[in-house]
Amino acid sequence: MSDFSDTAKLLIDDKEIELNVYTGVEGDRAIDVTSLYKDHKLTTYDPSLGNTAICRSSITYIDGERGVLRYRGIPIEQFNRSKPNFIEVAWALIFGRLPDHEELGYFHDALTDNELLHEGLRNQFMALPVDAPPMAILSAMISMMACYHKEFLQLEDETSLLGAAARLISKVRTIAAFTHRRSAGLPFIYPDPNLRYCANFLHMMFSLPYKQFEVSEEMEDALNLVLILHADHEQNCSASAVRVVCSAQANLFASCSAGVNALWGPLHGGANVKVMEMLEMIYRGGHRPEECIAAAKDKNNQFRLFGFGHRVYRNYDPRAKILKTACDRLFSKLKHKDPLLDVARKLEELALRDPYFIERKLYPNVDFYSGILLRAMGIPTNMFTVMFAIGRLPGWIAQWKEQHFADGAKIIRPRQLYVGNPKSDYIEIEKR
Ligand code: ACO
Repeated sequence: MSDFSDTAKLLIDDKEIELNVYTGVEGDRAIDVTSLYKDHKLTTYDPSLGNTAICRSSITYIDGERGVLRYRGIPIEQFNRSKPNFIEVAWALIFGRLPDHEELGYFHDALTDNELLHEGLRNQFMALPVDAPPMAILSAMISMMACYHKEFLQLEDETSLLGAAARLISKVRTIAAFTHRRSAGLPFIYPDPNLRYCANFLHMMFSLPYKQFEVSEEMEDALNLVLILHADHEQNCSASAVRVVCSAQANLFASCSAGVNALWGPLHGGANVKVMEMLEMIYRGGHRPEECIAAAKDKNNQFRLFGFGHRVYRNYDPRAKILKTACDRLFSKLKHKDPLLDVARKLEELALRDPYFIERKLYPNVDFYSGILLRAMGIPTNMFTVMFAIGRLPGWIAQWKEQHFADGAKIIRPRQLYVGNPKSDYIEIEKR
């Protein structure tokens, strides 16, 4: 981002206030309001921060009007290659460019070296109810990693950040698999150092004692792609949660745990579970697709078409486009069929020709097709948002790093417009 390139004028109370305007590398412009309160006792009102740039960032670029998404400048479509590699993308997001052979090899080894959980942490699973929500377990376990890796509570250089990132990215996969095993009443399967990142996860999820799960190449590639497509999405709800917590100089584990909790919400990452419930309900005959569309449009009904709409995209989410074709690819390779894919296609077709969705520019988002792909891999629905979190972790780490090391970084502390009682007196309880 260049320094301010222009100025804007704000006219208020017959006073003219000049404000700097910054221009990003893709031509986006942002009015700098940082001095408005200090100099003029004025704040800006933007309740859900839909129009506020909270930082300068060089990680991910989105053009919501055109449906463009780039990681470190690289269009997301270019990661949809014959052998997608999540670990390479994770490194690029965190360190700013694609790694060379040596860097990738080193990172891969660091992940392998850190794939086991401390036995103390592993034992915590046994204290949890078998039906505990997986996202609650994930956020608690990531928070608890701070108890076992105190050396990473202060990160002041890239080497220590690499160590912490490798631990987090590697162990989150073990935590996720153990979460599933615990809820299914199955024994934990330890990670296999001879397997690559995604294959190792599938092994821990589905192998049985003395019965190794055969991970097919198709499955491994599909999982790499799903994780890549979730890896970062600039200042979304969970990334912002990570930044807010980080801005208080909280450690990486605490900040990422906050990200998990934000992601859990059904308006954010939790939507992938809601999509699946919606598709299943339609398939089982609970409602026809037409009825779902009608309910989503009805302002007296709380129901929303899950997996549709986005704060930033006013066009087809490029991730949903890739996932839709990835479903077709995987299904034809595995000769797999899923009636829920037909239900999803039908819902999409109805919505995309409905004036309500057209006028509001509501298109499928990443959550619309991701669940169908995860289901084809045998991942149970209650684990879908956990899968999103595994993918998003490198993005959170990259956002944390950018926030933590930013020049002049300050605690994030928004203001408010107070609309409560004017000054009033305390009344003794007997007199109320
Ligand atoms: N179904 C029906 N109507 C919708 C939907 C939907 N999925 N999404 C938005 N709308 C409507 C709103 O009711 C609103 O209508 P109005 O102008 O008549 O009041 C209009 O479209 C604009 O929507 P907003 O609520 O202002 O959009 P916002 O940016 O606040 O919300 C969000 C975005 C939360 C993603 C929303 O589209 C939604 O709830 N979608 C369903 C949940 C979902 O799929 N979330 C995942 C998002 S992607 C992610 O986080 C990974």
